[in-house]
Amino acid sequence: MKLIIASNNKHKIEEIKAMLGVRFDVVQGMREAGLELEVDENAETLEGNAEKKAAEVFALADSMGIIGNGDAVLADDTGLLVDALGGAPGVRSARYATDGHDDAANRRKLLYALAGVPTRKRGAHFATAMVLKIKGEPDIEATGRVFGVITEEERGENGFGYDSLFFYEPMGKTFAEMDAEEKNAVSHRKNALALVLAALN
Ligand code: IMP
Repeated sequence: MKLIIASNNKHKIEEIKAMLGVRFDVVQGMREAGLELEVDENAETLEGNAEKKAAEVFALADSMGIIGNGDAVLADDTGLLVDALGGAPGVRSARYATDGHDDAANRRKLLYALAGVPTRKRGAHFATAMVLKIKGEPDIEATGRVFGVITEEERGENGFGYDSLFFYEPMGKTFAEMDAEEKNAVSHRKNALALVLAALN
């Protein structure tokens, strides 16, 4: 069975492949699957965006005849929710600083917004809403979370997005100081995927 991940983000595809590869014979990102589609992520919630992405990519793949019964499309939408900012940037995490998707600018803006906020008030969590649309079967939806603290400066070179600002206390490292295996063991996406897998089984 085939799984198409509704994304072209290399890091994300690798993370998902590492975790769901056991359940599907073929796991492809959109480009690899021959799909070209820009989904406007304009819903008000992470769940709404994941549903929209899954539905649009599934409809395109289905119309092109590249998915059969049992094949699936997985879409996710992730946000960083910072307590001291009332849950911002949240669903707007990708476009926090600019309308484009500029990770470095987003990190700078976040550090600026939290300037002077003490560590004990810098709590935050990543949330990933996931929707798995399987041809011929009901959708599976799940949201995974991981809790941490926003650092006062960037730490680490790995990962992407807000990883270098997200300190995970149980391991004493930011996500960007972890290797992929360490991050995959505890991440928001891992927690969402575990819920999706449990529902699949
Ligand atoms: P998207 O849901 O992949 O579009 O991500 C939304 C925003 O969250 C983007 O700014 C990403 O860079 C960021 N993001 C998504 N996943 C992660 C992650 O695992 N670590 C850090 N930032 C992430």
